[in-house]
Amino acid sequence: MDNKTAWDTLEKITNLPTLPAVYFQVNKLLQDKQASIEKIARIIEVDPGMSSSILRLVNSAFYGLGKTCNSISHAVMILGFNAVKNAIVSVTVLDALTVKDRPAGFNTTDFWRHSVSVAVLARQLAQRSRLAAPEDAFIAGLLHDAGKIILLNYFKDDFLRILQAVRERNLAFADAEQEVASLDHVQIGAYLARKWQMPDPIVEAIACHHYYVTQDDTTGLVECVIAANMLANSNYSVHPDDIIFEGRVEDALKPLLAAPESWLPEAVEEIDAACEFFLEKR
Ligand SMILES: [Fe+2]
Ligand SMILES: [Fe+2]
Repeated sequence: MDNKTAWDTLEKITNLPTLPAVYFQVNKLLQDKQASIEKIARIIEVDPGMSSSILRLVNSAFYGLGKTCNSISHAVMILGFNAVKNAIVSVTVLDALTVKDRPAGFNTTDFWRHSVSVAVLARQLAQRSRLAAPEDAFIAGLLHDAGKIILLNYFKDDFLRILQAVRERNLAFADAEQEVASLDHVQIGAYLARKWQMPDPIVEAIACHHYYVTQDDTTGLVECVIAANMLANSNYSVHPDDIIFEGRVEDALKPLLAAPESWLPEAVEEIDAACEFFLEKR
């Protein structure tokens, strides 16, 4: 299948994974600038299961809130509209992106452990560098490889060819898919994020996490995700000179990559706690 045919196929898929209606309702309120704490809480509280998952998330050790939240309206008040919208994504995305038929050589638990690690690391980098909203960095990290699940569920032959190239020629996944697949997980992930009405910087972070092009007007979110992905893929040891970003972003991120001992141990603890939360029932 060539790239154009693959895109046509992707665009014709009618049952692509989606997020719950609550997410889109909250998103619409925010876009229409009609959000209020009461309105958002009322929408979320209709679903008691989701409400309790969100409260468990924001009160979890790795979320780093520092105080206890006992209701959704309290959470909206403390965290803000955007963070609560992102919390809906966090607690539902693993169910949205289930694997239909898992091939040998692909481990779903490892996939999510990697995604959660990148989410926590990206959030830490965003928070400490002050480059981007930490909760946006978390979502971008959590979703950065989501395209792999779509590839696996809807383009299985391509996915199997990629796994074969990874296994037989020892290629990295992203390099293998450039050679043998008609679409890559980066393009698909960005497409899905756009369909899910994610803000542009999150779509861009997903789209550019392997193929970075310096942009003067970057928000810094994409660079936090790239650095987080490199850290997660290299057992947390990235040489700061291996990543070159635009001046302002470089100035903010390089000191963190050059002195990981000042923040990484805490982040690794958070990753363990976050994996426990997200992978509990898997
Ligand atoms: Fe990736
Ligand atoms: Fe990744």
